[in-house]
Amino acid sequence: MNKALVAPELSLVSQLLVKHQGTAGGLLPLLHDVQDSLGFIPPNAVPLIAEGMNLSRAEVHGVITYYHFFRSTPPGKHVVQVCRAEACQACGSEELLAQAEQALGCKVHETSADGLFSLEPVYCLGLCASSPAIQVDDKMHARMNEGKLTQLVTALRSAS
Ligand code: FES
Repeated sequence: MNKALVAPELSLVSQLLVKHQGTAGGLLPLLHDVQDSLGFIPPNAVPLIAEGMNLSRAEVHGVITYYHFFRSTPPGKHVVQVCRAEACQACGSEELLAQAEQALGCKVHETSADGLFSLEPVYCLGLCASSPAIQVDDKMHARMNEGKLTQLVTALRSAS
């Protein structure tokens, strides 16, 4: 799903550009701000960002694609992040991730066909003592297992 940059978004990217222009290493903070504001970095914002940051389009595109954190398409309604850092791995987060792929109907870094879920890895949520942990939108969930994950996904589906 590709989404064109519309006027309000263009204006927002322009405002964020003003904030970061002329700052050494300003591209990454700018991209984070754009994604925080829009949920993704629209591909047609790249020329504007490149020009504003005095970089080539290829350089901006390269940074966006290098960091998996950045999205070029809108996220699903709910973003599910599964912790893959050490403590959670030791408590079965890789199996949990595979179960999440099944339950959500999408792979890591993808969005489900119904647009309801995006699945992302995360590297420590600060809940190491209660591993494995996930975050769904702004809410963290500790000591996850397949049953709790299924319940959570079912509740989100029925609430949509
Ligand atoms: S390692 Fe998963 S929350 Fe810290």
